[in-house]
Amino acid sequence: MKDCIERILISEEELQQKVKELGEKITQDYQGKEIRVIGILRGAFIFMADLIRNIHVPLSVDFMSISSYGDEIESNGIVRILKDLDKPITRKHVLIVEDIVDTGLTLKHLREVLSTREPASVRICALLNKEERRVVKDLKIDYLGFNIPNYFVVGYGLDFAERYRNYPFIFVLKPEYYQGRASA
Ligand code: IMP
Ligand code: MG
Repeated sequence: MKDCIERILISEEELQQKVKELGEKITQDYQGKEIRVIGILRGAFIFMADLIRNIHVPLSVDFMSISSYGDEIESNGIVRILKDLDKPITRKHVLIVEDIVDTGLTLKHLREVLSTREPASVRICALLNKEERRVVKDLKIDYLGFNIPNYFVVGYGLDFAERYRNYPFIFVLKPEYYQGRASA
């Protein structure tokens, strides 16, 4: 096992199984409709790529990039749009795909911003959720992969300082790797 891995939290097989289940559920719920799937860059791109291959209704994709002011492992709720959507979402059924919900501030803000653009509907699909860390109490995650404890996790698209996105599983990074004492 690689040096930087404290422990694997969700294996590749578990991820693929869950993505399949989420895709099936979304496929059922959106029968007769078309979805605009919106990926939040960059953390969600791998999850989203796998997810849409398991959704069997017509869909199109778009991306947004968001930055929260704050340090690298915690957001403070002030959200800035770095890259907006390319296409309008008026009358579209929007499905926001996010890697992880932590405080919930990012998604609360995003949902508010997108709702002003008069979409037909807005739902949220998140791979991971750290319930313990939630600040926003009324955030509904319509489709959720896994509830996880309060660990800083990386892999399968999630990063620390832009690294580790390429690992096919979700793992807990050894503390010395995010405290700057080691790098891999
Ligand atoms: P929130 O606004 O606090 O919900 O923050 C959500 C964002 O924080 C996610 O989109 C991630 O970019 C980042 N984040 C929160 N927890 C983790 C983690 O454990 N690993 C990697 N990124 C995380
Ligand atoms: Mg993110």
